[in-house]
Amino acid sequence: MTAPIAHFNGELLPIDRIAISPLDRGFIFGDGVYEVIPVYDGVMLRGREHFERLQRSMDEIRLANPHSIERWLALGRELLAHHPGNQSLYIQVTRGAPAKRDHVMPKDLAPTVFMMCQPLVTPSREVVDNGVACITSEDFRWKKCHIKSTSLLGNVMARQLSADAGAMETILIRDGFVTEASSSNVFVVKDGVVAASPWDNLILLGITYDLLVRLAADGGVKLEIRAIAESELGAADEIWLTSSTKEVLAVTRLDGRSVGSGKPGPLFKRMHALYQEYKAELARARVAA
Ligand code: PDD
Repeated sequence: MTAPIAHFNGELLPIDRIAISPLDRGFIFGDGVYEVIPVYDGVMLRGREHFERLQRSMDEIRLANPHSIERWLALGRELLAHHPGNQSLYIQVTRGAPAKRDHVMPKDLAPTVFMMCQPLVTPSREVVDNGVACITSEDFRWKKCHIKSTSLLGNVMARQLSADAGAMETILIRDGFVTEASSSNVFVVKDGVVAASPWDNLILLGITYDLLVRLAADGGVKLEIRAIAESELGAADEIWLTSSTKEVLAVTRLDGRSVGSGKPGPLFKRMHALYQEYKAELARARVAA
């Protein structure tokens, strides 16, 4: 079987023919940024917004973007032509190679660009209907979590805590407040009002988070962006996770205790329906185009 096609520095190649230098800053320092874009039946969901966030991440780490957003979108579509169906499109840009091992950012190094696809496995009916379990942990990551950095050791270590506990995610607490989860954003519902943590330097502003905020406003769901105290988790009627691969999921058990009724709540069902409707519109627009 031939290996799947991936993009490497402007070329489409079978992934097993791509070789990245051990002197790449991405390998040595985790000096790079990335994106994950959900693709439904060949169409990127909010592709432009993802590449805009990639630009913001690159600006933050002082890395010159080798491509315009239009060019990124075209490169994405070119790769997706080899990967029909639902995919998660992964894009990584590092500061490049070969570089002498020196923490100082070298000048005049061309970035390394890598893109690949993996089948997008959306949450199963069972998971949507029953919700998932999560645990909480201290947020021991750095203070620039708004950058979608490939330096993910803190996130990997946080995620492993929930994997060890047989749970889906680790919800992170910094100085008594909920930030996000290891690879998702967190929403908390009490008395019919949804709360979402402010998108400062302590969380990644999820493209799905942003979409949910818009869908809530359009759908007449009350949503506040404000700091969420850890104690609110225990008293919540509903807790949700969002990400490009998880869409929106209800958290029905937290640290071994039921959240609210222990079943996905009414506002989750409404937001899940609005999200699915948004996806359906994307499919309709594709057919019409
Ligand atoms: N992770 N917060 C963190 C720390 C994340 O890693 C992610 C996404 C999110 C949600 O962002 P978005 O809605 O744009 O996917 C929030 C991706 C999916 C990943 O690393 O695989």
